[in-house]
Amino acid sequence: MTYNKKTIEDIDVSGKKVLVRCDFNVPLKDGVITSDKRIVEAVPTIKYLLSHGAAVILCSHMGKPKGQVNPKYTLAPVAARLTELLGQKVPLAPDTVGPETRKMAADLKPGEALLLENTRFDPREEKNDPEFAKELASMAEIFVNDAFGAAHRAHASTAGVAMYGGLPAVCGYLIQKEITVMGKALEDPARPFVAILGGAKVSDKIGVINNLIEKCDTLIIGGGMAYTFFKAEGKSVGTSICEYDKLDLARQMIDKARERKVNFLLPVDNIIGREYDENTTYMRIYSDSIPDGWMGLDIGEKTQELFAKSLVGAGTVVWNGPMGVSEWDNFAAGTISVAKAVADSGAISIIGGGDSVAAVTKLGFADKMSHISTGGGASLEFLEGKDLPGICALQDK
Ligand code: 3PG
Repeated sequence: MTYNKKTIEDIDVSGKKVLVRCDFNVPLKDGVITSDKRIVEAVPTIKYLLSHGAAVILCSHMGKPKGQVNPKYTLAPVAARLTELLGQKVPLAPDTVGPETRKMAADLKPGEALLLENTRFDPREEKNDPEFAKELASMAEIFVNDAFGAAHRAHASTAGVAMYGGLPAVCGYLIQKEITVMGKALEDPARPFVAILGGAKVSDKIGVINNLIEKCDTLIIGGGMAYTFFKAEGKSVGTSICEYDKLDLARQMIDKARERKVNFLLPVDNIIGREYDENTTYMRIYSDSIPDGWMGLDIGEKTQELFAKSLVGAGTVVWNGPMGVSEWDNFAAGTISVAKAVADSGAISIIGGGDSVAAVTKLGFADKMSHISTGGGASLEFLEGKDLPGICALQDK
């Protein structure tokens, strides 16, 4: 899908109340934000609006509170972080559309910002209820969607406000950046184009594999889903994670890659463990067949070399999903080596998906990547070629 949507620069925001949907669904541990990337990435749009004389009403979801008010999912830590990043107070409203909140929004002056409480505290949000969307819209004169991470959700505060709110609806800088960078990779990539897909399940990635096979020159499969491909090729997988009901699909993908002359790479050696446990006994096997009673938990060294070699000279790399159980030290080497090879390749590198982004960030390679998507599910759906409702609903240029 190619988008050509109006942005905040295509509209006069001066003196206007602007409702901005962000994705502030950030990871928290004991109420403390462990990665503020999504907040940091929202700042350019917010700063632009504030400096151009808009009064900015921010909103977002957080977690899955299932339509109930739940203090565990309050946006209070986000309001505090925004206050630090913007260097001005960002008060948190008590709810999304209640009377006190509406008054706070009405009193907001140009250059001031306000954050509404978690949109998912209202059961109407995830139903994309038109009345809720209209209530949100009624506080503002312009709607800006900058929540790339939630753009695959047709919820009231993402697609609904643009569909039913009756406001000019445009995208912010973050959505613009995400769709430009990833859109270019899909439509007109610098070649060779290498796609690296990992993670546990073929079923999560089948749409992406299917779409990328039609566009890339090399497709690398690692992580847990490699074992479904092994099985589909008649190899033994021991007790490795394997989706037996997806073997036909895996075979179809292998055939499709062959027909399209895509260089399709699977691991050639593996690190195997006795159990799915961080401290399990493990060893390296020089084979892509896994003995009974063992499970594959990471790619081996020969595979690391093979994958790294295929990245040399790449023009574009899209990577989604770890190569092994990367959160466990004993099984992180494969993911680390791929991160390093992508960083060293000099290619335009696009990283999506929570686990590969977390791995790249934790390993200190984030600065070496061209683009780290703020979307998990949204970036996958974009790479699958699916329409993202939160973006489709915005005005075309
Ligand atoms: C995400 O974290 O991928 C987005 O914020 C969307 O969250 P959701 O999967 O709960 O809709």
